[in-house]
Amino acid sequence: MPFCYNSMGGSISKGVRGSVASTAALILAAGQGTRMKSERLKVLHEVCGRPMVEYVIETAQKATGQKPFLVIGYQAESVKEALGDKALYVTQTVQKGTGHAVMQAVPYLTGKYDEVVVLYGDCPLLSPKSLSGLIEHKRRTGASCAVLTFRPDDPHGYGRVVRAEGDRIARIVEHRDAGPTELAIDEVNSGIYCFDAGALFDALPLLRDDNTRGEFYITDVLSILNQAGRACVACEAENAEECMGINDRRALAEVSAVVRRRILDDLMLSGVTVDDPASTFIDAGVEIAPDTRIMPHTFLKGKTSIGRCCVVGPQTLIDESIIGDAVTISFSVIEKSRVEDRASLGPFSHLRPGSVIGEDAQIGNYAEIKNSSIGRGSKIHHHTYVGDSSLGERVNFSAGAITVNYDGQRKHRTDIGDGAFIGCNVNLVAPVKVGRDAFVAAGSTVTDEVPSGALAIARERQTNKEGWVAKKRSQSDEAGKKTPQ
Ligand code: UD1
Ligand code: CA
Repeated sequence: MPFCYNSMGGSISKGVRGSVASTAALILAAGQGTRMKSERLKVLHEVCGRPMVEYVIETAQKATGQKPFLVIGYQAESVKEALGDKALYVTQTVQKGTGHAVMQAVPYLTGKYDEVVVLYGDCPLLSPKSLSGLIEHKRRTGASCAVLTFRPDDPHGYGRVVRAEGDRIARIVEHRDAGPTELAIDEVNSGIYCFDAGALFDALPLLRDDNTRGEFYITDVLSILNQAGRACVACEAENAEECMGINDRRALAEVSAVVRRRILDDLMLSGVTVDDPASTFIDAGVEIAPDTRIMPHTFLKGKTSIGRCCVVGPQTLIDESIIGDAVTISFSVIEKSRVEDRASLGPFSHLRPGSVIGEDAQIGNYAEIKNSSIGRGSKIHHHTYVGDSSLGERVNFSAGAITVNYDGQRKHRTDIGDGAFIGCNVNLVAPVKVGRDAFVAAGSTVTDEVPSGALAIARERQTNKEGWVAKKRSQSDEAGKKTPQ
């Protein structure tokens, strides 16, 4: 967990002071994000399994070559918990606007950086290439500030870019402060800027909060720079999609769809077959080796990795799990588990956390496994439950057999040796052991250890009552005659 201290209304992680570098990245993420209508801070909402701000941090890190500063305020502790040491934290105790957020970082940037890149934590589609392009553009033009601009299909909500001559920007007017002429402008502010550090620090104290929101806007720095005779230039994005900001949940879905498609494209280009990208949901960071096929309606989440030549799906959810090579999995759910090479799962199996399925094992047809290891080549099918157990190699766990692992208060373990055969509808009441090559007869309720090679039968003996049905029927007929109609 990063260490922070307070100074001049802000705080910053230890170890930053003293480091010298030319371009700092400052990501603003202190606002609640009221338009999300959420208890949760906006920038922690996930896009393909990761907090949206993490994408911005990664992009800033790649483009500037160093750890970015993150301005946090609302739910600051949750941000630190989610992001750890991926960023250096600056605190904005009260949220008085994007300009005010930048002011909080000034004490930590002054004298250390030539340029300051400012970005917003709600803009996760930006690529490192576009950000580097913006920094280059500022350097090439010699301007005090370069702003990444774009022309979205619907400019509603974005600040409008009022151009002076050529690529010069006169000012940026927020949507809510704009008049009809400004609202008609289709070029908008992405919220991604590269400033001359000195020019920015000179302008910040001149910001005023005399707008509809009563906030200090970073966008007003541009008109202040212009008044001081310093140039601000527009750098129009090659790909407008990259500039999309997330303010509400519709935008969250739109941006997620773009990231999802990028993830799928990368996987397909690396040799993974995706039968139907439209119904396949794969989180950022999931690894899949070439020649694996992902069938429709499949969800791969968290830190999951899948080996080569597997067939996964249809209709499968795998979360935080490691899957080996040549594994087949259909219509199943796997959580925090490991499946080794050539094992097969499904249809309709559930691996709950802590399960390890050995090579060539077969788990299928309504089997549920929890916190158990299943040895190589073992078979578990047909409505079974294995919990808190160790099964050796080549164990046959027949239809309807279950481990009785819970006594109402505590969980107990079951150990089954290599080659054991557990018959149909067996209850193994844990704690219990079944030795190597032992047999447990169908319908048995096993409470004591079964020695290796032994047959355990723990059930009532069958008795047949000859002629019982006919006798019962004639008794019923007699009774019927005596009953008044
Ligand atoms: C902002 C820009 C707008 C631009 C748009 C692009 C301003 C005034 N407006 O508007 O010109 O077109 O982004 O997406 O900058 N934040 C803080 N502290 C605060 C307020 C905000 O850290 O006191 C952070 C938020 O957490 C967020 C970012 O700044 O990540 C942007 O704030 P938001 O309210 O989303 O600004 P927009 O209205 O989208
Ligand atoms: Ca925004």
